[in-house]
Amino acid sequence: MPAESHQSAGSSCLSLLRTIPLFAGLSVTELEQLEKMAVCRKVPRNTTIVRAGDKTDSLFVIVSGSAKVLNRDAEGNEVILTLLAAGECFGEMGLIDGSPRSADVVANERCELLEMAKTEFAKALAGNVDLCLNIMKSLVQRLREANRKIESLALMDVYGRVARLLLDFSEEDNGLRVIRRKVTKQDMAKMVGASREMVSRVMKDLEHSGYIRVEEGRIVLAEDEALFPVAAGSRL
Ligand code: CMP
Repeated sequence: MPAESHQSAGSSCLSLLRTIPLFAGLSVTELEQLEKMAVCRKVPRNTTIVRAGDKTDSLFVIVSGSAKVLNRDAEGNEVILTLLAAGECFGEMGLIDGSPRSADVVANERCELLEMAKTEFAKALAGNVDLCLNIMKSLVQRLREANRKIESLALMDVYGRVARLLLDFSEEDNGLRVIRRKVTKQDMAKMVGASREMVSRVMKDLEHSGYIRVEEGRIVLAEDEALFPVAAGSRL
């Protein structure tokens, strides 16, 4: 991984570690032990941080920025499994079962990361029930999301899949559901298993039908949550 900078995590690292869900419930002493093993890295946009098939030797936490988890076929076609935001970790799968990396993880924008060596982290895991439970919670959450994705790929048309993706990306803002994160139509297409042109067509259709309103820097979903029936597959 080409890193822009690479340094031992300093004293500010401790306050940062406290805010990471994976480390919730850990004592100051336990956080200090993790801090000692953490290394800070800054990587530019589009850096492949881990590559599918590679040997697993570390766990990463995203401090700032976001990353895409993706798989590619032999022709270079991509499917984006998920987007990871600040506060989320990756690289835990290979760390737990010792298998090679299951997917590529690529920086979606400039990212600041904490990297922890596998051997050190495994030691911390072995002696800490809270850490084990937090990892298990994160894996369960990812399994739920993967189940939802399988369901939408198997049971929904592209309209339903795009509508569900928009709902999943949206957050509550003064009584409205709003999407602020910037996701390209190309990436949306790679998430729902459709072409970019098809995603553009569906988005235009959703806009003309009043389900979404595209504004400067954000997308506002219909106020009465009318998008929900579409995302639930009512068009099928
Ligand atoms: P690992 O297999 O070590 O390397 C790739 C990482 O991508 C993997 O660990 C997980 O951290 C992450 N990852 C793989 N699949 C998913 C998924 N479906 N949802 C979220 N994260 C994933």
